[in-house]
Amino acid sequence: MSRFPAYRPRRMRRTEALRRLVRETRLSAEQLIQPLFVVPGTNVERPVAAMPGVAQLSVDRTAEECRRLADRGVSAVILFGIPERKDSHGSSAIDPDGVVPRALAAIRRAAPGLLRVTDVCLCEYTDHGHCGILREGDVDNDPTLEVLAGEALAHARAGADLVAPSDMMDGRVGAIRRALDLAGFEHLPIMSYAAKFASGLYGPFREAAGSTPAFGDRRSYQMDPANADEALREVALDIEEGADVVMVKPASLYLDVIRRVKERFGWPVAAYQVSGEYAMVKAAAANGWIDEARVAEESLLAIRRAGADVIVTYFARELAGRLR
Ligand code: PBG
Ligand code: ZN
Repeated sequence: MSRFPAYRPRRMRRTEALRRLVRETRLSAEQLIQPLFVVPGTNVERPVAAMPGVAQLSVDRTAEECRRLADRGVSAVILFGIPERKDSHGSSAIDPDGVVPRALAAIRRAAPGLLRVTDVCLCEYTDHGHCGILREGDVDNDPTLEVLAGEALAHARAGADLVAPSDMMDGRVGAIRRALDLAGFEHLPIMSYAAKFASGLYGPFREAAGSTPAFGDRRSYQMDPANADEALREVALDIEEGADVVMVKPASLYLDVIRRVKERFGWPVAAYQVSGEYAMVKAAAANGWIDEARVAEESLLAIRRAGADVIVTYFARELAGRLR
């Protein structure tokens, strides 16, 4: 152990050049994924009140936004679709002509180099707002798998580069993997929301995605915030079923889980800095209580330091320029 005065930690902190040289954790725009909310119509830009800087966009406007994001150095977007019609089975989710498939094609033309990720879930497509098909007031696991696989396949056929199931049904990664393989998409990777907690931080998102459950909550499928060992079991299961990237969500309040997942499995780990995490920073900054860019960057650095390789964040657009 080096001791004072031989070791003076402040020596290496004295200039930015020195600090940069020995910085342990780096943040770059290439590691960030920007979420986008796609709605029907043309020339639609509908701001989301609880998420300043985020808006629902029609397909044409989504494509324009993607071109700007690519110019700024963001390497990926994740698409959430808000359909024209919702029903009890979320049937628009498998429509090859739905908003997400159409957005995928438009983005490919507007920003060919941008990685296109799609969220695979039913809550935006069901009239009750739950992430699957209901039976007796609860989501029925196994019948839901078929629809999710159909949705992933629709995204694959429309040109998704990576599909990301966020529903938390048991066995969905395996079901999606089999469906993709059968259809010749054995090279299309899956990023599973492996440890997704039943969090109070999803509120603003539900406004953006129009996916607030009409009754009850998601505690019968999303995880109890108290459980970290169980999170590791969820991740193990998804890896066995074929997940190529495993995600922890939310991020900031679950840094311990991110770290344990990275250490235990050594798999590519993603973390989702969710709408509530974004909204808290935005709200405090709007009051002049914190420096927004500084705190945003610090929060992402913490998520990287915990072990995340990839971060899904609404700050991607704003920070990408700064990080360059
Ligand atoms: C739904 C889904 C949610 C988010 C991503 N996919 C919310 C939920 O479970 O209600 C949350 C994202 C955010 O809050 O930013 N499957
Ligand atoms: Zn859902």
